[in-house]
Amino acid sequence: MKTLAGRRIQDNPLLLVSRSHPLPLCAPPKLAPADPLYPCVKLERQAAVMLRACIYAAGGQNKILPVSGWRSQAEQQEIWDNTLSAEGEEFTQKYVAYPGCSEHQTGLAIDLAAAAEKIDFIRPEFPFDGVCGVFRRRAAEYGFIQRYPAGKESITGIACEPWHFRYVGVPHAQIMEKSALTLEEYLEFLREEHQRRPLKIQSGLHEVSIQYHLEEEFHSLSAKGRCQISQDNCGGFIITRWR
Ligand code: DAL
Ligand code: ZN
Repeated sequence: MKTLAGRRIQDNPLLLVSRSHPLPLCAPPKLAPADPLYPCVKLERQAAVMLRACIYAAGGQNKILPVSGWRSQAEQQEIWDNTLSAEGEEFTQKYVAYPGCSEHQTGLAIDLAAAAEKIDFIRPEFPFDGVCGVFRRRAAEYGFIQRYPAGKESITGIACEPWHFRYVGVPHAQIMEKSALTLEEYLEFLREEHQRRPLKIQSGLHEVSIQYHLEEEFHSLSAKGRCQISQDNCGGFIITRWR
């Protein structure tokens, strides 16, 4: 079984978790409520801070509700089993990740709903207009992407889920949004195009360089200055440096 070998989820915001890339063995992330009004819905701490900031910036307090954040293996199994018996196999495979293969288990994914009396736990309503639309337009600024977009089902393996957002951090979310790349496509792009030559972009006041490295190069990477080294769960690391 793959492991994160002493590394923590919060240091790996680009971790790909899917049916073909199960969650590596690791300690659960440090969690915080996604919204102080709904303390049962938790996210990895940095993702929680950024989600709250984005909801606030969109004017979404009390209008945008967190439905499901971090899930344990047992919870994902229960959701899978219950959906399978209530809705059948085709629906379940479209909308529920196989236990051990859900990015909810990282604490970096959140399902959001527009406030309403009844909220569907598996497929909450999160429209493209109104305050949810404002959140959507600002999400990348805060490091979030809509993880399962329409038209990319064959890449993600999951049906379009307008309610499911994934924290990947800044500036990755902005690059992915600008080029309409899923996490799978972004990691492949970095692996193919930016192994020898880093991707350089301006992010606010910072010059940022992003480079892909193979897993075996990890111990020779230099982590001087402000930088982040994120494992991708596909055999590599992405090092992001801010200047
Ligand atoms: N709904 C997403 C795919 C999950 O269960 O992780
Ligand atoms: Zn979700």
